[in-house]
Amino acid sequence: TPVHRHEYQVPPYRVDSLELEFSLDEEETLVKSRLHICRNDGINPHEPLHLFGESMELLELSLDGKALRLGDYLLKSDGLSIALVPAQFTLEITTRLQPQLNTQLEGLYKSGGMFCTQCEAEGFRRITYFPDRPDVMSRYTTTVIADKARYPVLLSNGNPVERGDYDDGRHWVRWEDPFPKPSYLFALVAGDLACRRDTYVTTSGREVTLEIYTEHENIDKTAHAMASLKRSMRWDEEAYGLEYDLDIYMIVAVGDFNMGAMENKGLNIFNTQYVLASPDTATDTDFENVEAVIGHEYFHNWTGNRVTCRDWFQLSLKEGLTVFREQQFSAAMGSAAVKRINDVRILRNHQFPEDAGPMAHPVRPDSYIEINNFYTATVYNKGAEVIRMYHTLLGEAGFRRGVDLYFQRHDGQAVTCDDFLAAMADANNVDLSQFSLWYSQAGTPKLRVRDEYDPATQTYTLHVSQSCPPTPGQSEKKPFHLPLTVGLVDTDGKDLPLQLDGESHALDTAHRVLEIREAEQSFRFVNIPKRPRPSLLRGFSAPVELDYPYTAEDLAFLFAHDSDPFNRWEAGQRLMSDLLLEWTAKGIGKLPQPLLKAIQETLAHKALDAAFIAEAITPPTEAYLAEQMQTIDPLGIHASREALRQQLAQGLAKQWLSLYQELASDNTAYRPDGDGAGKRRLKNVALGYLSCLHSESEQTRCLEQFRQATNMTDQLAALALLADTEGEVADVALREFYERWQREPLVVDKWFRVQAMSKRSDALDRVVALIEHPAFELRNPNKVRALIGAFCQANPARFHAPDGQGYRFLADNIIALDGINPQIAARLAAPLSRWRRYDSKRQEQMKLELERILKTQKLSNDVHEIVSKSLAN
Ligand code: ARG
Ligand code: ZN
Repeated sequence: TPVHRHEYQVPPYRVDSLELEFSLDEEETLVKSRLHICRNDGINPHEPLHLFGESMELLELSLDGKALRLGDYLLKSDGLSIALVPAQFTLEITTRLQPQLNTQLEGLYKSGGMFCTQCEAEGFRRITYFPDRPDVMSRYTTTVIADKARYPVLLSNGNPVERGDYDDGRHWVRWEDPFPKPSYLFALVAGDLACRRDTYVTTSGREVTLEIYTEHENIDKTAHAMASLKRSMRWDEEAYGLEYDLDIYMIVAVGDFNMGAMENKGLNIFNTQYVLASPDTATDTDFENVEAVIGHEYFHNWTGNRVTCRDWFQLSLKEGLTVFREQQFSAAMGSAAVKRINDVRILRNHQFPEDAGPMAHPVRPDSYIEINNFYTATVYNKGAEVIRMYHTLLGEAGFRRGVDLYFQRHDGQAVTCDDFLAAMADANNVDLSQFSLWYSQAGTPKLRVRDEYDPATQTYTLHVSQSCPPTPGQSEKKPFHLPLTVGLVDTDGKDLPLQLDGESHALDTAHRVLEIREAEQSFRFVNIPKRPRPSLLRGFSAPVELDYPYTAEDLAFLFAHDSDPFNRWEAGQRLMSDLLLEWTAKGIGKLPQPLLKAIQETLAHKALDAAFIAEAITPPTEAYLAEQMQTIDPLGIHASREALRQQLAQGLAKQWLSLYQELASDNTAYRPDGDGAGKRRLKNVALGYLSCLHSESEQTRCLEQFRQATNMTDQLAALALLADTEGEVADVALREFYERWQREPLVVDKWFRVQAMSKRSDALDRVVALIEHPAFELRNPNKVRALIGAFCQANPARFHAPDGQGYRFLADNIIALDGINPQIAARLAAPLSRWRRYDSKRQEQMKLELERILKTQKLSNDVHEIVSKSLAN
């Protein structure tokens, strides 16, 4: 049954504080909880007390010391209620759990040999009965008891305050968290763990102990995570004036984890993928991701923990804002332009399709069946774009005023997206009521821009109109309020001074932000001596689809000259995507000379950095091209893109070789910094083009790089290229790689992923065979994502094979996984949910698989919601 945002009611009872005691053991775990409960003001004394609870056994329940019996309370599969309670009382509850059997990885579970928790969004109710909703904030004292030999490390939120030993071999540690928090931020860890310890001194002089815990064999891979944590702490102080607030900050890496990481107060729990990094086992991208996710979880301490969400419809309040802060942090640590390109690529490849599909929902959804299905690219990444638009509209200083006011008003509270908007508006004295539509309307708006130049008056006019396609439950949309950042580029490639009609002089900036509010609006620039080329939506200033009739010449010019690096990249992407869409529709043709020349000049451009060049010369992804098509032709797109790569490879063969040789001869020691990573990336893009020549000598070159590489980035790049080739060399390399790395689970994930993404025609057969490989585990989300997820989401040409076998494979695995981990099973269903975007034969095949899934006995709510909504919309 769906939950609706408008049905929100304030909690009738609050829990000011609680004491928890965990007795962890191999067969069963006992949890004793003592809740200090108060009725909230204005609540009817007859209001029953409701506590959520599921998948556990209730052993004891007493109120103010008096045992309750069945009849005094009502116990159902999703919780318990007590009809009559005093205004203030203590409730004691004992529950019994079996974390060792918990394969959903929500609540308390075991990963490897350790106990750990994941409580967001609704996992705490699988540990004990509790008003498990984010607007109930309490002070926690937690005692953890376990066998000392097996579990020497016992952790929970806050500060350790007491510890002791029992004489039966068990020991205990008590933790106290002074900050009231919602139950979703509770965490506990017990295990035999190694620790990397460091300290950090905040600007105001507080010394904080930093600890990163992993299994013993991995502790040497945590130096980068620790350095990233310190950089995050420093950055948040400098950029936002926000300091850490406890004496200790702990991070624990676990191998079985549904998501990336979790910001539990003082005790973050991370997927190993986002903590562990060493040059020989992690790629440059892994290093970047570790830094970004460490930052993300750290930034949540303010945007999420100190100020949290009133209800789960407000999830983007903390996630959109924290993703934006993470993006700012990463941009400050490396190349801001390349970071922005990658952020937009994620948005277009993941969020735009979501907005155009059956699960389309606003950044602040209005209803859900299973909240875990709403940890989406829309809530996270489009949510971050919404925050970025405040930043663009209000400017850096105005945005900061808004954030300051937000903390001033709401520190310690559970609030809403409207509260955030109000703080932004009030701090800047502006009306943002129309802007709030970004929270309530789903769908990707289309921005149509046309222009006209009048030589007689030397004026140039931009006519801007906006529309937004209908989405499930929203047929009509109102116009959005958005920033359109523009520059006008003259024939020398320089930005013209921009003066709007009616202004006394041109502003002293190369570009300016036009505020769009109407369905149709025009902007007239004066003193424009010649027809300029518009550089529109600079920096991707709004999450929209832009429609302007650029000619190939315009795009080649902007690709060579635009002063805005994002738009410069974008011009090249459009140039290539226009061509690829034409080839896909009308047949593959010959590469136009201007495009070849544009790529060649970009390669030779001395002022551009390597990372940017690497992005600029890579054609748009198949996923992005697919989004541009009315009816998606996955094989046609793949063939066109491969043909373009092939022709660029041949047309610039000499350049690729010399570029590769130049970059490969650099033998400075590996450092995962932006400069080194950019050069490796460019080198490997060049190697990729060389491999398109399909010669034996190029294959040998790849094999050499694969064997001689001294870091995972180079080794994996070469392996991926080899894995695309038919023939035996691929198998030799794959075998060598597995043999070398089989004891490193994160590297084995990479081994699965390159095979899943292989361009070989037999990729599916190989993936099917790999499901049976001893290293593959359906219970481990990283393995599922690396093999099944990568094949179905990142190998469209093979997944959408005309015989429909890809769809069948996915449906079989969704069904198998649903009984183990419904959250992960539901996430896998996304590619099938987009069935309406394909031709009628594929539609039929995909629909049959969706229907087959729906008929499965005991299907989870998670999968049921996605599949039934896909069939309905
Ligand atoms: N709050 C976490 C983060 O974004 C994500 C945890 C989501 N977990 C879940 N089971 N839905 O950093
Ligand atoms: Zn987050």
